[in-house]
Amino acid sequence: MTSSDANQRWSESTSTLGDRSEYKKVWNLQSQDPDVASLAVAGHMDEAKLELTAQSFIGTLRETVGLGPNDVVLEIGCGIARVGKPLSKECLHWFGADISGGMLAHAAARLSERPNTTLVELATVGLQEFPRDAFDLVYCTIVFMHLFEWDRYRYVEEAFRVLRPGGRCYFDNFPLDSEHGWKVFTEGARYPVDRRPAHISMASTREELGAYLRKAGFEDVRVRDLPNQLIAATGRKPG
Ligand SMILES: C[S@@+](CC[C@H](N)C(=O)[O-])C[C@H]1O[C@@H](n2cnc3c(N)ncnc32)[C@H](O)[C@@H]1O
Repeated sequence: MTSSDANQRWSESTSTLGDRSEYKKVWNLQSQDPDVASLAVAGHMDEAKLELTAQSFIGTLRETVGLGPNDVVLEIGCGIARVGKPLSKECLHWFGADISGGMLAHAAARLSERPNTTLVELATVGLQEFPRDAFDLVYCTIVFMHLFEWDRYRYVEEAFRVLRPGGRCYFDNFPLDSEHGWKVFTEGARYPVDRRPAHISMASTREELGAYLRKAGFEDVRVRDLPNQLIAATGRKPG
């Protein structure tokens, strides 16, 4: 499939903003084949670039919340395991959770040679499939922009529940007030109201992300500006 075929199919696979809460339907539509799924997740279909951006994100995790060989790690909204594939080489076990079974099918194919990985399809928003105190690190990257605020907070609360005491969390989004954030916002504004796609990217503020983590009970909460246009909130479960 050429890149423009895949782009065309991707744009045809989107539903409109009224369906945003129907995350499973919206994201299964965008994962019907590996190329469309890769475009939906990363904006391109280049495996080398996927690896490069994943390594850069792993570096960010190391610098912000730390990453160790004994860590049991959960990614919320793991997509095609862009990050999980290389990250699983650096931790004890990597769990990838996603609302879309279609995305997870592509992730499974990409992880066939990574034995210390487990993929879990989420029934709905939340981490009900996981027990409390199970993970050393929970992270969620390039997902919050596609969720309503209530659902963002639900995942922060759930991360608190499934982390062991002392466990670390990481959540990111793009901020409205950066050059990049404002560009994304104005591009969204240009859609006719009834044609905005369900997965359209919506910003967070630093205050919003910090509030979620503090309200959920995390301590050592920090919100940082990252070099890649994102803001990231990190924290630690007390104990
Ligand atoms: C842009 S992709 C990012 C994937 C991955 N985090 C990465 O960085 O490569 C967004 C992912 O979030 C998932 N997702 C969307 N809504 C979700 C929800 N409510 N709960 C869990 N995952 C969701 C999608 O299925 C998709 O795989």
